[in-house]
Amino acid sequence: MSSETIAKSQKLKRSHYCGELKDSDLGKTVTVAGWVDTARDLGGIIFIELRDHTGRFQIVADPAKNKDVHKIFEQLRHEFVIVIKGPITKRPQGTENPNSLTGTVEMYPTEIELLNRSKPLPFMLDQAEDVDENLRLKYRFLDLRREKMQKTFFIRHKITQAIRSKLNGLGFFELETPILTKATPEGARDYLVPSRVQPGKFFALPQSPQLFKQLFMMSGFPRYYQIARCFRDEDLRADRQPEFTQVDLEMSFIDMEDVIGAVEEVLICAFEAAGAKVARPFPRMDYDKAMALYGSDKPDLRFGLEFVDLTDIMAKSEFKSFADIAKSSGEVKCLCVSGISEYSRKEMDDLKALTMSKEFGAKGLAWITFKTDGSMSSPIVKFFKEDEINAMKERADVKPGDTMLFIADKPQIVAQALGKLRLHLGEKLSLIDEGKHALTWLVNFPLFEYDPIEKRLSSAHHPFTSPKSEDIHLLDSDPQKAKAAAYDIVYNGTEIGGGSIRIHNMELQSKVFKVIGIDENTAKEKFGFLLDALSLGAPPHGGLALGLDRLVMLLTGNKSIRDVIAFPKTQTAACPLTDAPSEAGEKQLKELHIRIVEPK
Ligand code: AMO
Ligand code: AMP
Repeated sequence: MSSETIAKSQKLKRSHYCGELKDSDLGKTVTVAGWVDTARDLGGIIFIELRDHTGRFQIVADPAKNKDVHKIFEQLRHEFVIVIKGPITKRPQGTENPNSLTGTVEMYPTEIELLNRSKPLPFMLDQAEDVDENLRLKYRFLDLRREKMQKTFFIRHKITQAIRSKLNGLGFFELETPILTKATPEGARDYLVPSRVQPGKFFALPQSPQLFKQLFMMSGFPRYYQIARCFRDEDLRADRQPEFTQVDLEMSFIDMEDVIGAVEEVLICAFEAAGAKVARPFPRMDYDKAMALYGSDKPDLRFGLEFVDLTDIMAKSEFKSFADIAKSSGEVKCLCVSGISEYSRKEMDDLKALTMSKEFGAKGLAWITFKTDGSMSSPIVKFFKEDEINAMKERADVKPGDTMLFIADKPQIVAQALGKLRLHLGEKLSLIDEGKHALTWLVNFPLFEYDPIEKRLSSAHHPFTSPKSEDIHLLDSDPQKAKAAAYDIVYNGTEIGGGSIRIHNMELQSKVFKVIGIDENTAKEKFGFLLDALSLGAPPHGGLALGLDRLVMLLTGNKSIRDVIAFPKTQTAACPLTDAPSEAGEKQLKELHIRIVEPK
């Protein structure tokens, strides 16, 4: 292949995009540019599909029509880069492709410039879904060329623009906050950056702009937003990245209804940008109710299958395994499911194994199936009296053919294990209404939760969240009972945002620090600047942050957050493309006063 066929510079200038050419362009002479998606030589006549971000367009080289063009076409392979000029012609009858947007037209070019070649690809773009994700991420620039990825990132762009435009319209100022900063407690580990100038000292990358956005309110800006990058060193999952993006906002002289109202307006625009319609106001649910009925503070409300609480009935029964738990501050709850009455022993054992796995930790899974002929099949029915069975049936509204699935344990384990079972069965039995947009505000969260490892209370949201005003008095008497002025927005079982009304009073902030075991000196050292600001004229304020990546993931129908982040990290928080994180050189480490201690 001669190198002189590569154009020294691009002379032809693009006039149209590939995917936009159609019958109304017939007769026009156009110039298109892009990548060779496919090239086929059919007995001397060469067909290529040229691809750009809008789609693909068929171009044909016939040696009888243009020898020079055909000569270059003979060299074309996957992903070669060309620019090409010619008239748009109609495809001969019978050769149209109804599956392609440009399937009725084609071009016999008069000019071509070969702009660059490509080596054989590490994977074929149309087979990318089947290759190892690490390989896709190593060659992410190839992966991103794919139509599906281009579409996803186009929608991401549209969603981000719609959000910005709405927030601008609502009077929010787009302001920036530092990346090299001090720790913000959002519950994860910090990423640290060593200071060269100040030996032994470190910046922390922000887990969120939380404290700075509060300072903006104290600086007199009425409303702030930022499409902000956040950094959290935590265990990664399908919806969690160490580096992610928030739509972060804050407002002053407002109450919770103002924040909720603004966020609902923003979300309506974001959904619209992705082609989905939702209406205000979004429903709300108390945290306690969500935990009681779904075992989760982010319930998937696209289907029912709610928990039924049988603790009182079981406490009086003679089935010791359940009665003992019910009488000693445990719970006995069940799901009443139709469609599994014919499950084999093995299928029931699989459900049991799911709930008893290390992650969910149930001690067992018991069941009673009420057959349509009136009989019952169950490993535990023998332990119950008839009136107990009847009471259970009535409470759970059992119909013939239904199966009750029971878990007895500490409330937290019942919630987790039965909650997992609910989601599993929801999917397995196709109970989920896939067309539904179940957006719900979770409200009335507890202010604190007990941390069994640290053996003390910690903030359920973050320590700057205000208690509900009517619960402030509980901070002295019974802090665990206090509710927070906090709210989460949940979409189809994923938490897509969270926020709160903040504490704007120094004494109250100090009191909350005290409850969670932050003494005066630590508070001064860690958050002295906030306490100063609180004592120098802080207005009432509150806000919220949306997880933009999660929102885009759900609105584009992707299952992994990595598919909506252009250059994401792997499960082990690494970047296969750049090979980061990597070792630092001897000289750099010395400058930073850092010595590496090899792990044993
Ligand atoms: P929170 O910690 O709840 O609140 O975060 C807000 C939203 O950000 C998303 N999110 C994540 N997305 C991807 N990967 C992660 N590791 C990750 N962690 C969080 C979630 C979550 O709902 N400063 C407060 C907000 C406030 O009070 O205004 C905060 O950061 O969708
Ligand atoms: P046992 O009396 O321990 O043999 O248990 C009888 C049935 O009840 C078995 O199917 C167990 O899996 C189930 N079981 C036992 N303990 C629990 C529990 N804590 N929660 C749910 N099911 C249980």
